[in-house]
Amino acid sequence: MAYSEQRHRAHSLESCQLFVASFANSQHLLWAIELTATNEHIGNITVSIDTNNRLADIGILIGAQHGQGKGFGQLAWNTVLQYLRTRIDIYKITGGCMHSNRAMVRIMESCGMTLDCVRANHYLINDAPQDLLYYSIPGCWTSTQQHFSTTSNQSQETNR
Ligand SMILES: CC(C)(COP(=O)(O)OP(=O)(O)OC[C@H]1O[C@@H](n2cnc3c(N)ncnc32)[C@H](O)[C@@H]1OP(=O)(O)O)[C@@H](O)C(=O)NCCC(=O)NCCS
Repeated sequence: MAYSEQRHRAHSLESCQLFVASFANSQHLLWAIELTATNEHIGNITVSIDTNNRLADIGILIGAQHGQGKGFGQLAWNTVLQYLRTRIDIYKITGGCMHSNRAMVRIMESCGMTLDCVRANHYLINDAPQDLLYYSIPGCWTSTQQHFSTTSNQSQETNR
């Protein structure tokens, strides 16, 4: 968990139950990442949804070390991204990681996300400053305002 902010927290059964319960009756999403062969729970993937701005921010953690580096993170990320890109209420899908988290950078770049911005020297790893990279990809929501202005331009054209 070198690059996750969870590294600063100790979890108990109760804190995990509270975490899971916090998603109930909310717009946010949580999935367990499990190995199909054994049903072993190796990690979680979450989506925080900002309904006002129609943003969906994906977070992922493969906590089981033996589950890392085997393609599961990429598979989970791409599956959730594919689902979010079908949602007509989502304008933009985002994700972020530290610059040195090369696996996360690879996952976000290989699925077509592009760099939105860099927050320079934002976090500390072993007291060394780390850039935070923010990636995004468009969702399929488009502004009805745009539709209205296109329609009204068209009708102005027609009326001329
Ligand atoms: C980061 C994390 C989600 C990546 O998932 P993963 O299952 O380990 O990664 P994958 O096996 O799917 O690999 C994805 C890509 O990264 C590459 N990669 C994997 N581990 C890597 C490493 N240590 N260094 C460089 N590249 C790496 C893979 O080769 C693959 O690239 P490719 O498509 O070119 O082959 C997972 O390791 C994890 O949860 N780590 C701990 C917590 C964390 O960092 N969470 C993210 C916080 S933003």
